[in-house]
Amino acid sequence: MSNKARVVVLISGSGSNLQALIDGVQSGELPINLAAVISNRPDVFGLERATKANIPTELLDHKTFTDRESFDRALMEKIDSYQPDLVVLAGFMRILTPEFTQHYLGRMLNIHPSLLPKFQGLHTHQRAIDAGESHHGVTVHFVTAELDGGPAVVQARVPVLANDDASILAKRVQRQEHVIYPLAVKWFAQGDLHMIDGKSVLKGEPLPASGFLISSDEP
Ligand code: GAR
Repeated sequence: MSNKARVVVLISGSGSNLQALIDGVQSGELPINLAAVISNRPDVFGLERATKANIPTELLDHKTFTDRESFDRALMEKIDSYQPDLVVLAGFMRILTPEFTQHYLGRMLNIHPSLLPKFQGLHTHQRAIDAGESHHGVTVHFVTAELDGGPAVVQARVPVLANDDASILAKRVQRQEHVIYPLAVKWFAQGDLHMIDGKSVLKGEPLPASGFLISSDEP
């Protein structure tokens, strides 16, 4: 029997971050068992990626529920049927109820395309350009009841260049997403990463508010 950490991944779209995890598992770099991929939207490319990698998939369409609470409850039931050690939000575009975040507190990670606490919410790349930021990036964080507000685990910083538009900048950030998400998941799976008293702790050391920092000056 495998004693690898069981991970359930939630997606709403293309699943490129899911793919980075699949690639990590297939190369032997990432010692996890991808137990299931669950999408709240039908026909998304991420579901195809999971099927191709022989990972069980589930669709739970939020549009078939009358309210957020009943959707989140059904989602919890589905997730828990796979008995995960860790839940990974990989482009899962839903606001979560406090009941849901509390249930997975300390065992659910999210990736958000900004240097949190800057630019919580949507359209982060355009907002970083409009604000004249010299740098932008991405954050992996534990999920708490506060939207995009849980303790950071790891951040990657990239430069904002003169001719960037939102899609060029998004691509630069996404290359870093695919580096830092597998890294954070690996730390958790190895038992090196915990959330203790509302802080991220790596190998027994509390991390700074920005999390572990990685910089990339690659254009
Ligand atoms: C990623 O860029 C992720 O940072 C973002 O959605 C994208 C999903 O891409 N997440 C959020 O905006 C969460 N607030 P993917 O489906 O190709 O992994």
